[in-house]
Parts: sequence; C-alpha cells; structure tokens
Amino acid sequence: MGRNTLETRAEPQAADGDEPTSYVTGFGNEHSSEALPGALPVGQNNPKRPAYGLYTEQLNGTSFLVPRATMRRSWLYRIRPSVVHPHFTRMDNGMIRSGPFTDSGAEPNKVAWSAVSEPAPGTDFISGLVTQGGFGSPESSSGMAVHWYCANTSMPDRVMSNTDGEFVIIPTKRTVMVRTEFGRLSVPPGHIALIPRAVKFSVDLLSSSSGGAGAASGIVVENYGAPFVLPELGVLGANGLANARDFEAPVAAYEDSARPVEVVQKTGGNLWTATYDHSPFDVVAWHGTHVPYRYDLSRFQMVHSTSFDHTDPSIATLLVSPTGLPGVNNIDLFTASRGWFAQRNTFRPNWYHRNVATEYIVRISAPEGTPEEDLKAGSWSEVGYTEVVNQLTPHGVPPSAWEYATDAGEDPIPLDFGLLLGFEAPHPLVLTSAAATSDRRLPDDQPMFDGLISHFTGPASGSAQSVERS
Ligand SMILES: [Fe+2]
Repeated sequence: MGRNTLETRAEPQAADGDEPTSYVTGFGNEHSSEALPGALPVGQNNPKRPAYGLYTEQLNGTSFLVPRATMRRSWLYRIRPSVVHPHFTRMDNGMIRSGPFTDSGAEPNKVAWSAVSEPAPGTDFISGLVTQGGFGSPESSSGMAVHWYCANTSMPDRVMSNTDGEFVIIPTKRTVMVRTEFGRLSVPPGHIALIPRAVKFSVDLLSSSSGGAGAASGIVVENYGAPFVLPELGVLGANGLANARDFEAPVAAYEDSARPVEVVQKTGGNLWTATYDHSPFDVVAWHGTHVPYRYDLSRFQMVHSTSFDHTDPSIATLLVSPTGLPGVNNIDLFTASRGWFAQRNTFRPNWYHRNVATEYIVRISAPEGTPEEDLKAGSWSEVGYTEVVNQLTPHGVPPSAWEYATDAGEDPIPLDFGLLLGFEAPHPLVLTSAAATSDRRLPDDQPMFDGLISHFTGPASGSAQSVERS
C-alpha cells in the first residue's frame, strides 16, 4: 500500500469528511489541476521526464480535426498509464441494454413509471442500472439510452468506464460522491454530473447524516452522439439559461494504492470486466477540456414570455448534443423549475400539442405545498416519477387545469414545476422489455382527457367558402 490522498474505504458508506470543497469552474474551459506541486508540466504536454516519475497520457473525446470550439481532449499525468491493465472478459450485462433497441418497441401512448424502489442488499451503481429505452446505437455514434439507477452500496473497489458515450447522472434521492480519474464530485439531488466518454468513475453513497437516508436513486442519460455543449443563445444575448461559469470540474485527487480494483467497461453495448492490481484513480495532475462536471440546476435562469402567448419550450434548453443538421440535436437536455405566469389574454398552461420531438421528464422535487397524498408512488408529483411522450403523440394539461386556466384572471401568478429535468430527442424512445412490462409502469391516464368535452358553438358543418365576415 502506498501513499493515499484519497481515503481508501473498507466500509461501503463514505465518510462525511469526503466532501470536497473546491472545484474549478467554467464549461468548456481549458482547466488544469495538480494534487502535488509541480506535477503539471509548464509550457509543454509531453516532457521526457515528467515530475515525480509520472507517465503522460492523452485522452481524446473528439477527433483531432474538429473545430476548436468543440474540441475535447485532456492530458493526464499518472502513476501508471491506462494501458497497464489485465485482459478484459465479457460479463453479464445485468439489466443494461444498448442500441439498436429491438426487444420491445416505441409506443404511441404516453408511458409513465413510478420511482424505483429499494434494491436488493449489496446493489451498487453498476448492478443497479436498468435501461428504460433509447434509440440509435453506439456504433453509429448517434442516439442515446436512458437508465434508472438505484444503489444501496458504494464502490470502494469497483470502477466503471463507458466508451460508448457520455453519462449524465441525475440524482433524485440521496447525495452521491462521484470519484473520477480527474477528482471527486459531490452530487446531491438538484445537481447533475457529466461523465465524459471513457473517464473512469465510481459512485459512492455519502453517509446518511449528510447524504440522506435509503438508497441512492435517479436517472442516467447516456449520449452516444457528439459531446454535450451549451446551446447558442441567439437573440437572448451574452447571458442566460445555463451560464458556463456555473459548471464545476473537480480538482485533482489521486491514490497510489496496490489493491484489487475491478474495472467494468461498457464497450459495444456490452459490459467487460478486468481486475486491476492497483487503483486507476492515480492521476496526480491533469489539464484539458475532456473533463467531468457537476451543475446546480438552481443556477438555471428560466426565461418566458411576459407579454402574451408562450415562448417555445426550447427556451428551457440546458445542454445539447449537436448533429450535422443545424438546429437538430441528438439530445436536448432541459430543465423547468419556478417562475411566474404574467402573460395577458393567454391560456397560461402549455397548449395542447403534437411535437416532432420525443419528450421525456424525471421529477427531482415536487412543487412547494404539494399535499402529502400527491407525493405518493404513482403520482405525477412523486420524486423519481418518469414519463415519455414519443414524437407526435398528442398531449397537454388535464380538464381541471384547462377549466382553471380558462377562467383565471390577468394577475401574475407563481409558476411552480418543482424541479424537472428532461430531454427532447428527434426519434421515438424504444422501450426495453423491462420498462414496457415493469410493475412500476402506471396505468394509461388517457381516459381523463375524455373530460375535455366539446364547447363548440358553431353549426354542425361548414366550409371556408360559406363564411362571410362582416
Ligand atoms: Fe410537450
């Protein structure tokens, strides 16, 4: 056993003292961090003899020739290079599925699920992943998957790496400590974590006194496409929505530890395993742009109409995974929280609509003052509730909301979604059979829309030719 700057835990619960206190900020910045003074070379990337006897390694997240603005690469200065690893062998994929998704299908009905429940004892982040659905495939570098996660056990000696795509971890219950090659991220519900392709990481539960009780659970969005970037702001100007300065990357933290550590790698849609004789969290210094981040969703500035009608929901875009087509993204991540309705002569809830994009949401917190009975499993307000509305599936607010909004006055009123995170995507989400047949799948709420009765006051038939305007 060598020196450690990162506590090695025998217990599955991480200690309270593991809360990191510093980050480097700014999405897409050329970040740098060193855990030992002088470990980071100055003026060059690849010196003949790096400080402290470290090895140099470059990790590319994009090809060498992409424009600078979208380039992702980092330089790592580590105790052993990543090439020092045993032979990987296939392991059971558990409940993880990857594109192409063929075992079930895309549905024209809205589909919703109650939150994941307590997993079997000894379930960690990897074994607790259950794929909900997706489209595209890792091989095409296009598409995505969305997974539930639910874990009651930390990963002191287990590490994951995904070469198929980047992960966005969205906790809904209990704070997790995400250890990565680049350092540690504390991620409570209300924050999200971005883990770039191939960056090794593990997910630990903070002790219940600081992280919350019960299992850690939430959603993972897996992006097979181009790395997420901030959306262009257009006429909004230079500020607003998610600001670059609010994204936090970890500072370097390493361990020089000779002990068995299992690395589970997702490649080509399958899981592979190798047990190293050392910890791969041995990066002493790094610099670059291919780095993990966390982001506090309360920093997102909601923007909305203050005159009449609605802005389109694209105004809630948080991050996008671009395609080659202008304005068409592989995934648009969005968020919705609290604001005000102040439009005049406007039906203030969203209009009834059929959207060419597939819409998905997960609930992170309920609106203030939600009655206890509306927080229970199966409710739209339940923390961890998820739903998918595939492209061009009609949807909108229930009859009670229509009646309330139609009769409402003109005074501004608080708008409170609680906290939602979701995505829009250009293809239907194909469900896995596990999701399609889950006992957490909720009954179709379509019959409630039968309450949207006809209020039509015109004649039984008509055509434009017969209309005479006075
Ligand atoms: Fe919608």
